[in-house]
Amino acid sequence: MSVLLQDHRRGTYHFSPRHNWMNDPNGMVYFNGEYHLFYQHHPNGTTWGPMHWGHAVSRDLVAWEELPIALAPDEHGTIFSGSAVVDWNDTTGFFGGKPGLVAIFTHHSDVPGAEHPVQSQSLAYSADQGRTWTKFVENPVLRHDSYIDFRDPKVFWHEPTSQWIMILACGQSVSLYRSPNLKVWTLASEFGEGIGFHGGVWECPDLFPLPVEGEPGSGKWVMLVSIGDAPDYEEGSRTQYFTGDFDGERFMPDAYSQGHVRWLDYGRDNYAGVSWSDVPAADGRRLFIGWMSNWKYANQTPTSGWRGAMTIARELQLIRVNGETVLTQQPVRELKAYRKPVLTMRDAKAKDVSVRLAGLRLDAIEIHACAGFAEAQGSFAWKVRTGAEQETVIGYDAEAGEVYVDRRRSGIADFHPQFAGRHAASLRTGAESLELRIFVDKSSVEVFVNGGESVLTDLIYPDPNSAGLSLQTDNERLTFDAFDLFEIAVPA
Ligand code: FRU
Repeated sequence: MSVLLQDHRRGTYHFSPRHNWMNDPNGMVYFNGEYHLFYQHHPNGTTWGPMHWGHAVSRDLVAWEELPIALAPDEHGTIFSGSAVVDWNDTTGFFGGKPGLVAIFTHHSDVPGAEHPVQSQSLAYSADQGRTWTKFVENPVLRHDSYIDFRDPKVFWHEPTSQWIMILACGQSVSLYRSPNLKVWTLASEFGEGIGFHGGVWECPDLFPLPVEGEPGSGKWVMLVSIGDAPDYEEGSRTQYFTGDFDGERFMPDAYSQGHVRWLDYGRDNYAGVSWSDVPAADGRRLFIGWMSNWKYANQTPTSGWRGAMTIARELQLIRVNGETVLTQQPVRELKAYRKPVLTMRDAKAKDVSVRLAGLRLDAIEIHACAGFAEAQGSFAWKVRTGAEQETVIGYDAEAGEVYVDRRRSGIADFHPQFAGRHAASLRTGAESLELRIFVDKSSVEVFVNGGESVLTDLIYPDPNSAGLSLQTDNERLTFDAFDLFEIAVPA
């Protein structure tokens, strides 16, 4: 198959491996000017198989360079998800007193004759910026006899108690372990019973502190927990979050994290995401990337030669909304460097916008549109990747008070019965305006509502020629305070 055919669904500003299968992002760490992105990778096929850690690096979280495979299966098993840290003070003794990179990951082993696979946690280290890795001779460093699902360690240095903390998924809960040197781990606490969503196995947890925007001195801890697909849960695999406090031993959830489940994303395709480790304090951002797929249909998505993409990198923040601490996601600012302005309109009437959109054909774009609610603006819908009777609709339903993505006619949507659909996020009551940032690429849409208070991430598979866009509304007087359209161009 020609490169062109192979690649017409590859995102222009989303990371995918050049060849073969990818799922979860792993081991994201910043070190010496490089953002590392490792990932669950099957280098010998386009469906899930014996897991390796693929590797890519970037200086700006947008343009990625794929490097050779970092970790391959060994006598302890295949290499499942995990994290990486900079061991600044050489607590491991791996680096002769200098800083170096340590990966903490799950070994997954199908033991012949055993009732179920064994999962244990192991280490590998690199003294050359992640280019080559050595597995620790005493692997694994943490095992458990009673858990079948015991995986996805996310490790961070907890400054107030001067120790490493590991958060690990165990069945339908998480366990917190602590260690002075990444090699010896002691159980500190468990979390998850009677709280959160339990429709599937818990996976890929993360735990990190964030300030609350606009409230200097305040801060909360955020726990992310992804939940694996279960046949009777229509949404498939999905990520929930909790806010609360953490004292180096125990996570104590806020009251409103106890009452209801809070989702990171209202689309279907943002799974197993975690945050970057060791982003310099002077930068101060909590950076996140997710796997843009869903276990419901991940193995069947219509690409060839490769399969799997990451979301755009996002910055996570906490804001206070109606008394509740809410996690927001916004595209990283580095993406702005790749914008090519196409249209810039202010106080723009819907019908004028429509006129300007007619005839445009673009497949990798960002739409930024802001409208006040003051004068009963009514419902409207952006249609993207239109053509050949295809359209992906990103709309505001004024009656329901929600923003939605409708991908039922987005292109190839019948490869799995649960792919086609309409996914919605309710707007918070009291919002005075609606700001949408919509990122469209060859096979995805990502919608950031009101500064990322709600986000919808959805895969789409339009025809390459379906590159039109339009605005639809019943109210011709609908006005956008601001409307900007950019092409996003990342040199290949
Ligand atoms: C999440 C997950 C992880 C596991 C990995 C295996 O998508 O199931 O729990 O480590 O994928 O590839």
